[in-house]
Amino acid sequence: MADTAHFTPRVFSGIQPSGNLHLGNYLGALKRFSDAQNNGIESIYCMVDLHAITVWQNPEDLRRATRELCAGFIASGIDPEKSILINQSQVPEHAQLAWIFNCVARMGWMQRMTQWKDKAGKNQQNASLGLFAYPSLMAADILIYHATHVPVGEDQKQHLELTRDIAAKFNHDYGVDFFPLTEPVIEGAATRVMSLRDGSKKMSKSDPSDMSRINLTDDADAIASKIRKARTDPDALPSEVEGLKDRAEARNLVSIYAALADQEISAVLAEVGGKPFSEFKPMLADLAVAKLSPISTEMTRLMQTPDEIDRILGNGAARARAIAAPILAKTYDIVGMIKS
Ligand code: TRP
Repeated sequence: MADTAHFTPRVFSGIQPSGNLHLGNYLGALKRFSDAQNNGIESIYCMVDLHAITVWQNPEDLRRATRELCAGFIASGIDPEKSILINQSQVPEHAQLAWIFNCVARMGWMQRMTQWKDKAGKNQQNASLGLFAYPSLMAADILIYHATHVPVGEDQKQHLELTRDIAAKFNHDYGVDFFPLTEPVIEGAATRVMSLRDGSKKMSKSDPSDMSRINLTDDADAIASKIRKARTDPDALPSEVEGLKDRAEARNLVSIYAALADQEISAVLAEVGGKPFSEFKPMLADLAVAKLSPISTEMTRLMQTPDEIDRILGNGAARARAIAAPILAKTYDIVGMIKS
């Protein structure tokens, strides 16, 4: 069966526009995308608004969150000229291919998805049909561009395996070698950013305490004060990585520092080992303000010019459609639709 070897390398990834972008989104996704931007591979980054509505969204909140996410991508360094930045619903080929994939994927495959089981909860009968078909739309997002590399967090690995299953079944059922079997590019665990109030919980947009997270729109004062008030233990920092075992809060602050400074955790500890938090926190606050407040300023500026955002998304959609339309046309042809 086909691997990706004879397909042109192309990166695709998507993020849900769910509001309140925070440091976890930045270090886990946005910064990595931006760091990878100069590797010469064509990259498409997508705000997945069609995925967002698999659970109820207030329409005005959704529009705002989509623009905020676009501003977040750009403020984090994604250049909309170099990469292709799109909003999913503005490239209708995603939804069109998703329908074909709904007819390729099997009910049993979808039922095994852990995200479906988690999100639908006990009352599956009352979940939307879209939530059930979520992974099929995700496969379409990727395969409508014949994307070969998909950087995602560990939690999306199962959906990427399903994407390969859909590609393989399509290729097999129609006797073609048309869709690539996409490689997941799973991000390391080091950038799992935890809550500033509880080192055992992920930093989350839905935590009721705003002090638990650094929002990408926080200004310098807010960033510094949240770090100053972050929960810690009373001990000084260790000089070896093993010393962070069982010290969730210390580990979190050190890994945030390492990620922002583009250093290994061990290199950070070699520098700060032995220091008390009263010395380390101001160092972290300075670094975080230096790295994050320009992002916050740029996001705030962009959010005040929604027309500029919409223009960027319009351009992105046109460039994306130039890639997607021929792949959809070929798919329709393979399946037996009449050419129009
Ligand atoms: N499901 C992904 C998430 O929740 C978002 C997503 C949608 C995505 N389509 C995608 C990620 C395609 C990578 C590729 O994180």
